[in-house]
Amino acid sequence: MSSKEKQVFLCASCGHESGKWLGRCPQCGEWDTLSQAKAKPRLLRTTAQVFPLNGQGGEEAERLVTGISELDRTLGGGIVPGSMILIGGDPGIGKSTLILQLLAALAQQQHKVLYVSGEESVRQIRMRAERLAVQSEQIFLAAENSVQAILSLVDEVQPAFLAVDSIQTLYSETVSSAPGSVTQVRESTSLLVNLAKRTDLPIILIGHVTKDGSIAGPRVLEHMVDTVLYFEGDSSQVFRLLRTVKNRFGSTNEIGVFEMKESGLAEVDNPSALFLAERPVNVPGSVVMPSVEGTRPILVEVQALVSPSSLGTSRRTAIGADPQRLALLTAVLEKKIGVTLFDHDIFLNIAGGIRIDEPALDLAVIVALLSSLYEKIVDPATVVCGEVGLAGEIRAVGQIEMRLREARRLGFKTFLMPESSRRQLEASAAEGIQIYPVRTVHEVVERLFVA
Ligand code: TYD
Ligand code: MG
Repeated sequence: MSSKEKQVFLCASCGHESGKWLGRCPQCGEWDTLSQAKAKPRLLRTTAQVFPLNGQGGEEAERLVTGISELDRTLGGGIVPGSMILIGGDPGIGKSTLILQLLAALAQQQHKVLYVSGEESVRQIRMRAERLAVQSEQIFLAAENSVQAILSLVDEVQPAFLAVDSIQTLYSETVSSAPGSVTQVRESTSLLVNLAKRTDLPIILIGHVTKDGSIAGPRVLEHMVDTVLYFEGDSSQVFRLLRTVKNRFGSTNEIGVFEMKESGLAEVDNPSALFLAERPVNVPGSVVMPSVEGTRPILVEVQALVSPSSLGTSRRTAIGADPQRLALLTAVLEKKIGVTLFDHDIFLNIAGGIRIDEPALDLAVIVALLSSLYEKIVDPATVVCGEVGLAGEIRAVGQIEMRLREARRLGFKTFLMPESSRRQLEASAAEGIQIYPVRTVHEVVERLFVA
């Protein structure tokens, strides 16, 4: 087979590939953007092997387990050899810190690791390492932006794991557009993906998130990698969530919870306690909901403030929950319970800065709204969850047992849940906690607010 490199022409603005030079890019219509580049290596075929379906060979090699369990969980149980992991997050959220701690954990197991930063100098990285008390002969550092240079560094160092910080600062010498541009991001990532697949080297890539919430330089990036993790949290708060949004090697929606401390990120193995730590008790408008993120139950406090609008227009604000869902639930309350809300301002907040997207939140939202509206306290030892339908019916939620166990573990005494979920529970599951099954929002009102 010929190894002669084929010449191609790449558009600097959209990345379109053409076999011959053209004055105008047929894909994006830009003029004079095509320039000669080396063709992407497509010779992976030469290393491909086939295996019989019923037989041996081609098994997944063992995962690298970091020992940071909050991280291992989001990865689906550790790092898969040859996998490409993208970790996105706002600048300053703690991505570089997390990566350095990850590398330290691997180095501690005598794995040689390489950390390439295009963002910081070796001196700056060393300063962070000092702060984190990370010390190891197994961690190698380089300040580099060129992917080709990174490839030769990998060749030289032969690490067991590579971290690249960040994709926005990388450039491939085969493309002339600026670092951070779509073409560069795509080309650089594809070269790294290639390296991972060819050599079985697992790679973690850091990406900043833009204002609109996507990892800068296109969605394309998410399609190119195996695993996408988002590191999020309010930088004014101490806790950070690592959320799996895509994983070819595990389930999505997993979360890992960390706390940012003076000496780096600490694992939080009891997040429910963290999220409920500052809960005001005996205050109207507050109720606890047992949510499930991936395989992990977390109790959160749902807060609502409902008060008559002083201006002509009423306000609706939802923080940590879907505003559309809030609008829908408000409409259900008006129609089914007969409360008047159009002339009230409504603020909804999931305390602690966490975001809950599952429909099981509905019932807690309704209870918090009514509690605030009626100025009636919900018993602080009560948790509620359930999906609410347009007819005011309370619908079943998944993983009810997991929610129940977590509520009981944290000392809650009463659980208001959909009648249909109650039926899925074994009788013994309810030991030590009082279950109130409900079928409609009407029943909820009677149970909680009509003395
Ligand atoms: P960093 O990891 O540099 O964020 P990113 O790479 O996502 O931009 O960390 C950012 C913040 O974290 C920084 O403002 C300082 C803070 N921090 C701590 O509070 N404790 C620590 O031990 C470290 C290293 C950073
Ligand atoms: Mg950084």
